[in-house]
Amino acid sequence: MAAQPELSVAVDLAALPSFSWAALFGNDRPVEVEVGTGKAGFLLRRARARPERNFLGIEWAGEFYRYAVDRMRRWQVPNVRLLRADASHFIRVVCPQESVTALHAYHPDPWPKRRHWKRRLFQPLLVDAAVQCLVHGGHWAAQTDHAEYFEVIRGLLAGHPELYEVPFDDPEFGVEACRVATNFEIKYLQEGRRLYQLAVKRR
Ligand SMILES: C[S@@+](CC[C@H](N)C(=O)[O-])C[C@H]1O[C@@H](n2cnc3c(N)ncnc32)[C@H](O)[C@@H]1O
Repeated sequence: MAAQPELSVAVDLAALPSFSWAALFGNDRPVEVEVGTGKAGFLLRRARARPERNFLGIEWAGEFYRYAVDRMRRWQVPNVRLLRADASHFIRVVCPQESVTALHAYHPDPWPKRRHWKRRLFQPLLVDAAVQCLVHGGHWAAQTDHAEYFEVIRGLLAGHPELYEVPFDDPEFGVEACRVATNFEIKYLQEGRRLYQLAVKRR
């Protein structure tokens, strides 16, 4: 088989003099961001289904990040970039305001022990920053199997003055029959676990 050209999937923020989506993707198309992609099954399907949009996946675990980069290269998906970083830092410090059309957060680590809650992704400061990154009308979907963490997420998102709840099931944002088909979703459904889902939009 002929060698495939190397796609520039992996993002090196240090190589960008200043961050902009146009510099990252080479165009001005709408951007969706997935935080904590794991093996990026959702991102792969979503990016292939919506070639007219750009997708950034953020994953800090090296093993999953490398798997995801390799996966996008194997499938030759031109509209995905993957960043190995703390998604919270990217959203709070790097991401331009009013620039993101959709945020996806599926099965964020629940950190069930109280002393570890500070490690959770969903924190008031992160949510405030993420809201500022969304365009008005921007969409944010989250799913977890962890009932207590879900109540925290719901309080932060549905209770936010700039957000309002919308149906989770929305093919426009990659959710069909209430499924996102990430690795963790598939595993948890096989185990018979209940899943908790929420979607909101910015006013
Ligand atoms: C439970 S897994 C879920 C993976 C995938 N979303 C799914 O549903 O199959 C959580 C993932 O988020 C990543 N992660 C957790 N906190 C993160 C952070 N602050 N920044 C980037 N990735 C993070 C973990 O490394 C892990 O791969």
